[in-house]
Amino acid sequence: MQTPRRKSPRSGLPDACTLTSHLTSYFQKTTKIPLYVTAISIFFLALCIYGEDIASLAELSFWRLRQDLIYVRAAYRPRHNPRPRLPFNATQLHAYARLPPDTCDLSVGRWVFDNSSFPLYYEEECRFLTLQVTCGLNGRRDETFQQWRWQPRDCSLPRFEPLLLLKQLRNKRLMFVGDSLNRNQWESLVCMVQSELRYAKKWEDGNRNIFYSKEYNASIEFYWAPFLVESNSDNPKIHSIPHRIIKPDKIEGHAVYWKGVDYLIFNTYIWWMNTDKMKILRPNATDWSDHDEVIRIEVYERVMKTWTDWIYKNVDPAKTSVFFMSMSPLHINSNQWGNPNGIKCALETLPVNTTEPPNVGSDPQMFDLVSNLTRSMSKVPVTFIDITRLSEYRKDAHTSVYTVRGGKVLTPEQQANPKTYADCIHWCLPGVPDVWNQILYTKILSKGVKS
Ligand SMILES: *[C@@H]1O[C@H](CO)[C@@H](O)[C@H](O)[C@H]1NC(C)=O
Ligand SMILES: *[C@@H]1O[C@H](CO)[C@@H](O)[C@H](O)[C@H]1NC(C)=O
Ligand SMILES: *[C@@H]1O[C@H](CO)[C@@H](O)[C@H](O)[C@H]1NC(C)=O
Ligand SMILES: *[C@@H]1O[C@H](CO)[C@@H](O)[C@H](O)[C@H]1NC(C)=O
Ligand SMILES: *[C@@H]1O[C@H](CO)[C@@H](O)[C@H](O)[C@H]1NC(C)=O
Ligand SMILES: *[C@@H]1O[C@H](CO)[C@@H](O)[C@H](O)[C@H]1NC(C)=O
Repeated sequence: MQTPRRKSPRSGLPDACTLTSHLTSYFQKTTKIPLYVTAISIFFLALCIYGEDIASLAELSFWRLRQDLIYVRAAYRPRHNPRPRLPFNATQLHAYARLPPDTCDLSVGRWVFDNSSFPLYYEEECRFLTLQVTCGLNGRRDETFQQWRWQPRDCSLPRFEPLLLLKQLRNKRLMFVGDSLNRNQWESLVCMVQSELRYAKKWEDGNRNIFYSKEYNASIEFYWAPFLVESNSDNPKIHSIPHRIIKPDKIEGHAVYWKGVDYLIFNTYIWWMNTDKMKILRPNATDWSDHDEVIRIEVYERVMKTWTDWIYKNVDPAKTSVFFMSMSPLHINSNQWGNPNGIKCALETLPVNTTEPPNVGSDPQMFDLVSNLTRSMSKVPVTFIDITRLSEYRKDAHTSVYTVRGGKVLTPEQQANPKTYADCIHWCLPGVPDVWNQILYTKILSKGVKS
């Protein structure tokens, strides 16, 4: 059971004011208050009064002022219960964290309503969430979708202990690599650990989004590479969605940024799903128009081969742990879960309640290809994490119309038109990606203590 948590009001403004008061009280506790600190407090108070969008302003202006000593946590909760005695050896860690046996298949199970353990954090508490996933702030009123625990059939997932993960990440880097679903998962992990941190910051650098904890010298990063290999979609902000062309044999331009990272978590799927054939650049092409169209699965296999070769040549398994997340499913067609009156995922408030997950069209060939490939990679072991099956039940947990388009929250008119505007690909936070991370946490801890 997680500790029950205080709920803060569901609105951006009082939350911003909470931040201000935390900032102010924090600064009051320090003995010498420099003038600029007072100025900053007044600046925030002014924002509070005028109701500006504090999240983006805080990020933009604050970091430029003083990057190394910024208290961004609004909801840091000092613990009253004793902290676990650290460090553990591997055996002690296994017992303390209540890790399931490695042989237990975590992908088969059911969702159990458990509002005493979930959500793991509140949307309003996590300063680092982007508008894409803050469904509550964007107008979603039902919360039941946040309150389900994943119960594997043959064992149980351990309770998520942020301190144990942070200890594991001390002086290390963890990086998600892939598309917006990996970013979804990255945002989730940031929120899952941030309640334990006093000093943390988040910034962008090229294709990377970086969250850094000063206390642990640990970073949790996201790297945009929607096909893993190079493509014409590699700019994280400006990319053509309909015209996707990839270079199946070229990975170095991205992969150079993955070198030396301690935990690498990959995924590539959704960007492949628009067409049956993929456009691939010809070997000696001089511009993007010089391409061929090839059956999707063949290109996927080639890309995975390029990726494997890179892993084999560049990853030291003694230092780096590699993970591959299976595909995140879509809920676009409500007939697939027997609701002919549904509108995509927009009207759903409960998980699918059947023993087997509904068939929502997740591509089994692509799943098997990665599953088989990662199982066969002996030189550098890769942990394949199956989140497909468990997520297929979760028609209720997508961002739907409570999200952004072109950087702006959908207007009431757009929200009233889910047929056109509902996003049934990404997930609200807190939500399903927290459970993916609970599994990732289990796997990271199960690998034991690395020095
Ligand atoms: C871990 O520590 C415990 C208690 O100190 C000890 O009994 C055990 O043998 C140690 N295990 C390993 C693998 O070092
Ligand atoms: C959990 O759900 C039950 C049943 O809906 C409700 O009675 C209870 O108040 C809820 N508890 C919390 C902490 O939300
Ligand atoms: C901080 O972490 C980085 C790796 O992320 C490491 O290279 C560096 O040595 C660490 N710094 C200290 C002071 O341990
Ligand atoms: C591409 O160029 C290289 C070197 O210039 C050449 O050896 C190769 O045959 C060319 N490949 C194709 C498919 O034209
Ligand atoms: C499925 O239905 C049963 C019986 O009504 C209920 O106890 C359970 O919580 C439901 N599970 C889900 C995932 O909706
Ligand atoms: C994956 O392995 C399974 C069983 O080992 C096999 O039946 C299947 O054909 C393989 N699929 C692919 C795509 O390699």
